Amino acid sequence: MTKKVYLGMSADLVHPGHLNIIKRATELGEVTVGLLTDKAIASYKRVPFMTFEQRKEVIENIKGVEYVIPQETLDYVPNLEALKPDFVVHGDDWTSGIQKKTRQRVIDCLAQWDGKLVEVPYTHGISSTQIHNAMKEIGTTPEVRLKSLRRILNAKPLVRFLDIHNALSGLIIENTRIETENGPREFDGMWGSSLTDSTAKGKPDIEAVDVTSRMSTLNEVLEVTTKPIIYDGDTGGKTEHFVFTVKTLERLGVSAVIIEDKTGLKKNSLFGTDVAQTQDSIENFCHKIQAGKTAQATQDFMIIARIESLILDQGVDDAMKRAQAYLEAGADGIMIHSRQKSPDEIFEFCDRYNQLSNRKTLVAVPSSYNQVYEKDLEARGVNVVIYANQLLRSAYPAMMNTAQSILTHGRSAEVDENMMPIKQILELIPGGK
Ligand code: SPV
Ligand code: MG
Repeated sequence: MTKKVYLGMSADLVHPGHLNIIKRATELGEVTVGLLTDKAIASYKRVPFMTFEQRKEVIENIKGVEYVIPQETLDYVPNLEALKPDFVVHGDDWTSGIQKKTRQRVIDCLAQWDGKLVEVPYTHGISSTQIHNAMKEIGTTPEVRLKSLRRILNAKPLVRFLDIHNALSGLIIENTRIETENGPREFDGMWGSSLTDSTAKGKPDIEAVDVTSRMSTLNEVLEVTTKPIIYDGDTGGKTEHFVFTVKTLERLGVSAVIIEDKTGLKKNSLFGTDVAQTQDSIENFCHKIQAGKTAQATQDFMIIARIESLILDQGVDDAMKRAQAYLEAGADGIMIHSRQKSPDEIFEFCDRYNQLSNRKTLVAVPSSYNQVYEKDLEARGVNVVIYANQLLRSAYPAMMNTAQSILTHGRSAEVDENMMPIKQILELIPGGK
């Protein structure tokens, strides 16, 4: 009787290493590929470049592959129990690290019906990680980048964004990565903050930095990064102007704009009621959302409505009324903001928001309630966490300190240990030599 062989694969960037494993599998019997879904892949590494359907099309056309079925989790066990294969074939590069546990579960599961794990020597000199890094160097296109936010939102319960104010801050977000026991962790994208962009230009956060200048900061960042951008559109300005901003952002490859329901001279939300700030009427703001949605050229661009009710002490009832109206007007998501130290009012909003039948993406900005963990926000249904200003806030004190030290000592030697060595700054950006 023909033996059943099972292979679990992401098959995003197919290279000879994959073909080698498939070839070995065909020698053992009839091959079923369990193709990891976007969600399964995103649970331990970045979202794949190709969609599930695209990856499926590639894999089912490889010689020797009989069936392709989805593998919904990193864990093989559900598919193995359904299929009871005689063999599982895998590269021998999963005996340590994040996949070690997965491997052991495969072995234990197969043992129930005397199935075997066959490991194929890892093909040296080529890996998806290498190809991925090479692709990063080549860059991305506006279209791919624009679509990428919706893709990661579909694949992950929670994504994290961090503020940009120039190209270098973009590079930090692009490249910073840590290893955890659940796999690598990095930022999913960049927040085009109006506060940090204005501050970096020495101007107050009152929409005084005009859209042309904001776009020029975005352009700098776009040139050297590939991750998605959510743009802080402030109030969106006049509706007649906002429609042009939407088109410009789409053309650049920005994935989403967030506009806040304030009118007149905008002040930063974290001033709260210490300054005069006026919330827009529901009717006007819905009209602005609708005009933006009508203006956009793609299906993928997102317009997210930011509710300022909690900032302006109008309470959760008012925030909910607005959330409902903005979603009905066509908003692709809601950002709820708060300036309390505790996340209680945000949590209350989340619980009520989750009950809406047309609930969409929910964004939170834990600047003042910074004790909260991402996992707690995730448990309340928050989909996007924005760290709105932390990069600029950490850079500025460091620079102030250096300036003061030079003045104090009449030389720079004392502050040298706080700074990046000259050689490192010269080599920080590749291609300088
Ligand atoms: C920004 O980063 O510009 C924001 C968030 O809009 S906040 O500063 O909290 O208003
Ligand atoms: Mg802002």
